Amino acid sequence: MKQINLDTSFLSLEPEELKQEERLLLDRALDACDMAYAPYSGFQVGVALLLDNGEIIQGANQENAAYPMCICAEPVALSRAKVQYPEAKIIWMAIRVKNEAKPALEPAAPCGACRQIISEYEGRQDAPIGLLLQGQEGPVYKFQEIAPLLPLSFSGKFL
Ligand code: THU
Repeated sequence: MKQINLDTSFLSLEPEELKQEERLLLDRALDACDMAYAPYSGFQVGVALLLDNGEIIQGANQENAAYPMCICAEPVALSRAKVQYPEAKIIWMAIRVKNEAKPALEPAAPCGACRQIISEYEGRQDAPIGLLLQGQEGPVYKFQEIAPLLPLSFSGKFL
């Protein structure tokens, strides 16, 4: 028998411990929450991507009265980035949340489908995407890549 360890450890940082560019990207993600269309859940998700050409691309969730058609903020931002700058690599992805029902004082982790989508974009660019997660305020969870959030992931290599 062989035991395989999946490293799911990550850093929880206070905002003061972040680099200035990381704080700036998190600010842009919080701004993006205002672009959310979330009349049904009242849960606004904002994303800001830093590309290797220096551009910052934002995204926000877009809901639909037919609930399963809701589009998460992460694929909105990733699709925008890839269509607008097909050659650029995504270096960092900041995700912030605002909740009408109660203050979001801790990060909300991306949903399973979004983790799979982020993993695909890492594969496409053959480089990791760092993740910074934060609520409206409070601690920042930092990941160097999607793997700890999606261990043993499915990918094109199986096809
Ligand atoms: N949502 C996202 O935008 N990203 C996620 O990773 C989780 C959920 C959105 C979808 C929906 O508009 C609202 O948050 C509540 O689920």
